[in-house]
Amino acid sequence: MSNPTVKPFWDAPTGSWQYVFHDPQTMKGAIIDPVLDFDPLAGATSTANAERILTYVKSTGIEVVWILDTHPHADHFSAAHWLSKELDAPTAIGAKVTGVQQLWAEIYNLPDDFPVDGSQWDQLLEDGAEFMVGEVPVRVMFSPGHTLASITFVAGDAAFVHDTLMMPDSGSSRADFPGGSSEALYQSIQDILALPDATRVYVGHDYSPNGRDPACVATVAEHKISNIHFHDDPDKATYCALRDKRDSTLPLPKLMLAALQVNIRGGRLPAPEDNGRAYLKLPMNYFLSR
Ligand SMILES: [Fe+2]
Repeated sequence: MSNPTVKPFWDAPTGSWQYVFHDPQTMKGAIIDPVLDFDPLAGATSTANAERILTYVKSTGIEVVWILDTHPHADHFSAAHWLSKELDAPTAIGAKVTGVQQLWAEIYNLPDDFPVDGSQWDQLLEDGAEFMVGEVPVRVMFSPGHTLASITFVAGDAAFVHDTLMMPDSGSSRADFPGGSSEALYQSIQDILALPDATRVYVGHDYSPNGRDPACVATVAEHKISNIHFHDDPDKATYCALRDKRDSTLPLPKLMLAALQVNIRGGRLPAPEDNGRAYLKLPMNYFLSR
């Protein structure tokens, strides 16, 4: 058994944290939530973030054995598929991604033969699933709320909690996307705060509030003491009222309508049309302007 070495990579345009963790004994590792760059004005994807990760794992001598996503992201495209091809490593995501695929296949009016069985990933992970990355034991916790398919990876003494808790000075993540639930998020965060106090909690986003440097990790104990949404141990009703009120003021993520149709395909663009080019579509007036 060992604890992982964790290397964070920040993507400034989306405020996303991407991670590589590895076992220092065996040098086996995993990538979590890699970003595929997308310029919405040009409609162009690129791989600067993924190439940074690739350079790091190659120069450090890490053998990547898994490429993991915590959930289908709404604010960026996943680079899981691209990295999987580059590194010849398998992809995995939470098993409830099938529910997210069904939901968004309906919103995008995708054809009946669009697979909503999660077959775009090599493995779907159930609640409580366990696997090893070298000598680091990894356990999957379902953490719904931000999305219905969200999961936390507990890897040794590190927990990759994606969009549940944010850094203590930012509180917690929003729960108002289709399939989201502040009540479910409250329970998921209680489960994370029940991990050992010394657990290193790595978050999915940081937006550098008040101009501080971007940050990605605090311990469970630090969250219990100073997380602005949880330090006074709110009951579910109090938290949900605060969360729902705040969410009602937030605009939808800039890239959500583009990102979901890529991310429910495991980070692939839709199949090319007869001219060889892929297209994204927009569901008009499905979401109300905020
Ligand atoms: Fe997210």
